[in-house]
Amino acid sequence: MSPSGRAAADAELDDVCLAPLRGVTVRTFRNLHALWFRPPDRAVAPFIPTFAGAKVKPTLLKDIDPELGQSVALVPQVIGKDPEQLRPLLRSFKALGYACADLNAGCPWPFVAKKGRGAGLMRDAAAFGRMLETGCEEMPGGFSVKVRLGMDGPDLLLQRMELINSFPLREVAIHARTAKQMYEGQVLLEPFAAALAACRHPVVYNGDLRTRGDYLRLKARFPGVTRWMIGRGLAMDPFLIERLRREDAAEREVARLKGFLDDYVAASAEELYGPVSVLGRMKELWGYLHLSLRQGERVWGSVKICRTLEEYHRVVEGVFGAFPGFVADGELDGIVG
Ligand SMILES: Cc1cc2nc3c(=O)[nH]c(=O)nc-3n(C[C@H](O)[C@H](O)[C@H](O)COP(=O)(O)O)c2cc1C
Repeated sequence: MSPSGRAAADAELDDVCLAPLRGVTVRTFRNLHALWFRPPDRAVAPFIPTFAGAKVKPTLLKDIDPELGQSVALVPQVIGKDPEQLRPLLRSFKALGYACADLNAGCPWPFVAKKGRGAGLMRDAAAFGRMLETGCEEMPGGFSVKVRLGMDGPDLLLQRMELINSFPLREVAIHARTAKQMYEGQVLLEPFAAALAACRHPVVYNGDLRTRGDYLRLKARFPGVTRWMIGRGLAMDPFLIERLRREDAAEREVARLKGFLDDYVAASAEELYGPVSVLGRMKELWGYLHLSLRQGERVWGSVKICRTLEEYHRVVEGVFGAFPGFVADGELDGIVG
């Protein structure tokens, strides 16, 4: 089989995980996405912060509560730097039935990283090690970490790899950017390759995987990687998993996208308090979704200025009434050849 033929066959077998996107890949999104589209194999939930005190507020756990329905196999994620605060949170995950949890060591926002949380945790080897140790103690065989390549430059992860390798982690998800890059600029595939070679745990590739072309390019470059994490790509193109898996995937059906969006706004109205929150949630999604539509900037311009749900419904009905069509896959590519 040719390398590209092999990569195409792998697309059915490889593991695709939905990335955590706070405010976007929330429970209702995950569940309704799974109802309308081919779902990812699993998802990491948006982070839950550790906090002082032993009692975990139930509202903190709502997004991951199995009783509220979880259509996609889920791994809860924590963000924090204090192992004694990590323990009660992990125990509350276990009480809900989870055997796995993930540590966020990649959040780049300065107000988080400066406090030694998220990507900032990687700066302090001792604190990072204590968090990994406690996580592995509490979740034997089920603890994983999500990291970036570094803070300002792309070599901190490599420096921490010996430490990371010394714990029995389930996997390491690497967002192939530095914290300084935030979410912009090209992913850095050379430093990713170096980290991949140095890591003894299964590695999950993360960053800008938006099309089947991206998958094939990444797979050709990293044939040993079988786990892929996708965030914004799925929010841009909810059809992505089926299109990623099969070269002959059917055309995107407008009616399915419309059905999903209608369900999402209705379910959000039941779930959230007040139309402002519902509108905010829909705008978060449209901030990505418009990128897969022709004349997307015009559509986004009309959606983002909506002040009421009535206005929102009018605008969205207008978009689907004279649907502009989807952009070609090549226009969404995130990985350059
Ligand atoms: C709005 C937003 C929220 C995010 N929330 C989280 C989070 O809660 N936990 C986390 O580990 N990463 C979070 N991320 C990072 C993503 O999981 C992912 O690493 C990043 O977007 C790159 O992957 P992508 O190009 O496939 O989106 C967030 C990113 C964005 C844009």
